Amino acid sequence: MAIKVILVAGARPNFMKIAPIMAAMAGDERLEPYLVHTGQHYDQRMSKLFFEELGIPKPDIDLGVGSGSHAVQTAETIKRFEPVCIDQHPDWVVVVGDVNSTIACALVATKLGVRVAHVEAGLRSFDRTMPEEINRVLTDRISDLLFTTEPSGNTNLAAEGVDPARIRFVGNVMIDTLLAHRERAANSTLLDRLALAGPDGPRPYGVVTLHRPANVDTEDCLKGILGAIAELAETLPLIFPVHPRTAKQIERFGLGRLFATDGILPGEVGRGLFAIEPQGYLDFLHLMAKSRIVLTDSGGLQEETTVLGVPCVTMRDNTERPVTCEQGTNNLAGTDPAAILAAARATLADPPTGRIPELWDGKASERIVGVLCSL
Ligand code: UD1
Repeated sequence: MAIKVILVAGARPNFMKIAPIMAAMAGDERLEPYLVHTGQHYDQRMSKLFFEELGIPKPDIDLGVGSGSHAVQTAETIKRFEPVCIDQHPDWVVVVGDVNSTIACALVATKLGVRVAHVEAGLRSFDRTMPEEINRVLTDRISDLLFTTEPSGNTNLAAEGVDPARIRFVGNVMIDTLLAHRERAANSTLLDRLALAGPDGPRPYGVVTLHRPANVDTEDCLKGILGAIAELAETLPLIFPVHPRTAKQIERFGLGRLFATDGILPGEVGRGLFAIEPQGYLDFLHLMAKSRIVLTDSGGLQEETTVLGVPCVTMRDNTERPVTCEQGTNNLAGTDPAAILAAARATLADPPTGRIPELWDGKASERIVGVLCSL
């Protein structure tokens, strides 16, 4: 009888992790996948677009949880996932990443006696003020099988006393997706649409993303970071796909004046900070791949830039992905505006070269499927 596996996807950064696992399971008679979308992210641009572009099958069920406080969102997911888990009676529940959907569904499954596998286990920022860190620690604690992406994951889990038999170093599923879609992304017309494509290749530009509550939810912090970014944008045009959370805060704190007013880059020497809508996977991958620098507070982008060889300045005090600094192109700058500017300028003057971390080779999902079938 086939092994029944519920896969859980909830928020944008989950979709590119679930896509290659679903693809690796498709057509494998040993497995019977069942895809649950919790609905934590629900906009066309934050969710549906990714399913279309990455060829993820339509979810078997959408729990429609939506936005809310952490308690409400997590509780609602728990409530709505439990009957599905009881009804489907799976052999495994596979959760990815560190969002509220991850811990909520892991908790439901383990209490029902269903085995849980956590993909992207063991990452630690050691910063308990980050909601994702709580989700990571708790999910790992209750998971039966821990799939790690980089050596620090194994070290962290060992230090927490996890039985090594539960840990499997398989590589990075998000990089499976990047490598699988890189060529298709090269056909993106986004650079033309932004007037960044020149006759001799793209004009120099940088990319910004920002959405961590710690960076965007207080006026002082957001104003300081955006001020530094706007100053950098005086010498290099910066394209900023704005996350819905950040858009709300920019509006609330009246910081729109830091952005260039016309959405399209003018002439040959366009400068300024340009806000655009959140992009789909392929357009955004192309935008990153052709940029001189990425400034971000995202976790995933630190990894993607490492594989693309694009310099990354991370606007956080810590990273749960240290391999991107040790081996990749990531520069951890902190959130002080002067430090961000200094790191960005130093990076542009002398771009780092990195190497691709071990097992970030496009085959992590195959390894995961292999392990699930062997147990
Ligand atoms: C969540 C994850 C974070 C991840 C990020 C990527 C948690 C704790 N956080 O944070 O780890 O890096 O997603 O995007 O799970 N919103 C929309 N449309 C949507 C989704 C959200 O407008 O489709 C708005 C919500 O109304 C809310 C805000 O964006 O005000 C934040 O959404 P939420 O899912 O709560 O957290 P994120 O900040 O996106």
